[in-house]
Amino acid sequence: MIRTVAVVGSGVIGRSWIRVFARAGCETRVFDPDPEQLARALHWARDSALEDKARGFIDSGAATGEGRAIQRCDTLDEALSGAGWVQESGPETLAVKQRIFAELDAAADPGAILASSTSAHDMSRIAEGLAGSHRCIVAHPVNPPHVIPVVEVLPGERTRPEVLTAALAFLESVGQSPVRMNRYLSGFLLNRLQAALIREAVFLYGTGAASVQAIDTVVREGLGLRWALLGPFGTGHTNADGGAGEYYRRYGDAYREMWRELETDPEFSDRVIDGIHEETEEMYGASATEALCAWRDRLVRRIRALKDDDPPPGSPTRESGR
Ligand SMILES: NC(=O)c1ccc[n+]([C@@H]2O[C@H](COP(=O)([O-])OP(=O)(O)OC[C@H]3O[C@@H](n4cnc5c(N)ncnc54)[C@H](O)[C@@H]3O)[C@@H](O)[C@H]2O)c1
Repeated sequence: MIRTVAVVGSGVIGRSWIRVFARAGCETRVFDPDPEQLARALHWARDSALEDKARGFIDSGAATGEGRAIQRCDTLDEALSGAGWVQESGPETLAVKQRIFAELDAAADPGAILASSTSAHDMSRIAEGLAGSHRCIVAHPVNPPHVIPVVEVLPGERTRPEVLTAALAFLESVGQSPVRMNRYLSGFLLNRLQAALIREAVFLYGTGAASVQAIDTVVREGLGLRWALLGPFGTGHTNADGGAGEYYRRYGDAYREMWRELETDPEFSDRVIDGIHEETEEMYGASATEALCAWRDRLVRRIRALKDDDPPPGSPTRESGR
């Protein structure tokens, strides 16, 4: 059972990982080579837990426990000492990741699992040539991981199967929803699915077929409401009385016809991007990003709580990909 974790790199993603591990009761050691960034991340983690307490998401005992679990480390060695899981969240450049992993492999405890938050790189490349490449794995979160539980887990060519099994179990034990990807593809699962939908949204807007407001509304008040509960295949399963097989057979030709028409390389010029920006600003306000993010995070948590209270009938809710 892993009880001590090192978070290496404490930017947007690293600081949110701190909360994931600390609230699960892990001793959470945090290191960043930039001391100001480290200080900012620790402040953020404290303020964010206090905000959760004020909103009733956690009680004061949990907030205090979280605070106690977090330990500032001024050197990488200090952070790694005794850690069974290392969550690397440094800059997204292959050469930098390779350098960091070489340092982690040299200094971490021999039994520690070395996980990367990378959104794009293949662990086979990051850990190439390392003596400990068998213990390296991608654990790609969705921003912010303390609010959104999915973590895409991808082994590299040399990752041992028992490391994959232990990684899935550990991430589940800290309250995340790990999903295994069987082979590396750029963008992994989430970003590929997102890119497919955004490609079509850009095409529809750029060719004047619909406004930004219309496209966002179709997802927000239509597709997204079901997808928050079921996913695309689960939704298909509810669209015909005989389930997914009946639905996709019945509408297979209609889907094929639309697929043939889909534009693979829509215009994504300044004209289109400026238009999207202006219309999005009209919809959600000019400088509301921070407030919008806070609202999003609050509502996502309420939706998750509702799903925990009322899970789907007859099926496991957690998808670990195992
Ligand atoms: N931001 C997102 O939405 C998102 C989502 C999923 C995954 N990721 C991935 O998470 C990782 C971090 O992204 P971010 O958005 O938090 O970036 P960020 O720029 O906010 O943070 C990067 C941090 O790494 C630190 N750093 C620099 N050199 C380092 C080193 N040698 N060792 C350790 N830390 C070092 C920096 O000081 C900084 O605090 C990237 O691999 C990114 O692809 C980001």
